[in-house]
Amino acid sequence: MAYGVFRSPAVIYFGTGQRKALPRIVAQHGQRVFICTDERFFKDPLLAGIEQALKAVGIATLTYDRTIAELPASCIQEATALARDFNADVFLGIGGGSCQDLAKLVSLSMSYGDDLRPFYGEFKVPGKTLPVIAVPTTAGTGSEVTPVAVLGDPERVTKVGISSPYLIPVVAVCDPELTLTCPPRLTAIAGADAMTHALEAFTAIRHKPSSELSLNQVFIGKNIFSDVQARSAIAALGKYLPTAVEDGSNLLARERVMYGSLAAGLAFGAAGTAAAHAIQYPIGALTHTAHGLGVATLMPYVMEFNFECCVPELAEIAHLCGLPVQNEAADARDAIDAVEQLFSRIGIPSSLQGLNVTADKLEWVAKQSMLSTRLINNNPRALTVDSIGRIVNAAYAGDRSLLRSA
Ligand SMILES: NC(=O)c1ccc[n+]([C@@H]2O[C@H](COP(=O)([O-])OP(=O)(O)OC[C@H]3O[C@@H](n4cnc5c(N)ncnc54)[C@H](O)[C@@H]3O)[C@@H](O)[C@H]2O)c1
Ligand SMILES: [Fe+2]
Repeated sequence: MAYGVFRSPAVIYFGTGQRKALPRIVAQHGQRVFICTDERFFKDPLLAGIEQALKAVGIATLTYDRTIAELPASCIQEATALARDFNADVFLGIGGGSCQDLAKLVSLSMSYGDDLRPFYGEFKVPGKTLPVIAVPTTAGTGSEVTPVAVLGDPERVTKVGISSPYLIPVVAVCDPELTLTCPPRLTAIAGADAMTHALEAFTAIRHKPSSELSLNQVFIGKNIFSDVQARSAIAALGKYLPTAVEDGSNLLARERVMYGSLAAGLAFGAAGTAAAHAIQYPIGALTHTAHGLGVATLMPYVMEFNFECCVPELAEIAHLCGLPVQNEAADARDAIDAVEQLFSRIGIPSSLQGLNVTADKLEWVAKQSMLSTRLINNNPRALTVDSIGRIVNAAYAGDRSLLRSA
């Protein structure tokens, strides 16, 4: 039965040079813009150009350039205090996922108070927040369109998420030129995260439709809209991600990869992600390896574990990756090989040992993964500590065949 929910920014502008329209876009939402960025982009002359252009149309700007990747509470509170003093009425998050998430969180704090703990989880944000305009400079997180912001909490082992449709930016401005400066490794890690978002959304659990599902859950599993977005993302990233990594100046590849990341964000922003993301969180906390590296290392093993529950989806993934149509079971198997080869080509490790995970930590990782209940429940095949144990053991050994029986 057809079922779906589509939540997105009111407007998504996409195209090379699109950043130049920011003054007109920002002016539609406010007159005092608080810009969240990091030290790198602060030094980029492009930022000075954007600030000047905003001022030229009479918009007051204040730029916060101390965004820290893990978004500790201190960073969010510092930025919020400045934004409050400045009396900001619109936020511009320009940078990687961290800067965009900071803009979402400062807007949330300004609207509902500095203590963000009551908002952890799903549907806890009480209402509308001040408008956020998101401008990504990496192609990976999809944060420009997602209802999620991720932050670090010293009281928690892993990072925490706040998920609410109220966190979706009002406008996303995607200008592929902004990603031209991404070095190969960042391009690979961010792009692999985007591919994993699309793959997990496309193979997520399919719930029994109900009129209340999308009102009770931010992430509702595979649905008619997320499928369309995930398909476009897989096709674009499968074809162009290696080129973007190997030849960063190739604007066509940059465009397609940025589009893939955006489409993957729309897909997982409604469908949610699953086992690969659940298992990465403790691995990231343990090894301090990049999120995209972890989820992509795990993805082929998760696909292997999920195989029997998503043969048609896996077969379609093979076709989207340009492989010929044979029979469904063979195509589904080829899909896992194709994803593994794509990731290997862009430098993703083939086993957890490549992420410096040690054998004595595997049991802990399996137990911690189960705490991400929402992601665990979103997996197409039921997960237990034992079955996650099998996935992490196989991923540690670098041997998918260990997951093929039983
Ligand atoms: N909100 C969401 O939906 C969502 C989803 C996934 C991840 N996240 C969060 O996003 C963050 C990761 O974001 P990210 O991977 O985009 O990176 P990031 O924002 O953490 O930045 C990583 C590094 O890349 C640099 N960088 C960014 N753009 C660049 C460019 N164009 N050229 C050169 N260097 C550039 C940054 O300066 C920084 O040093 C994490 O905090 C994660 O938790 C959010
Ligand atoms: Fe991710």
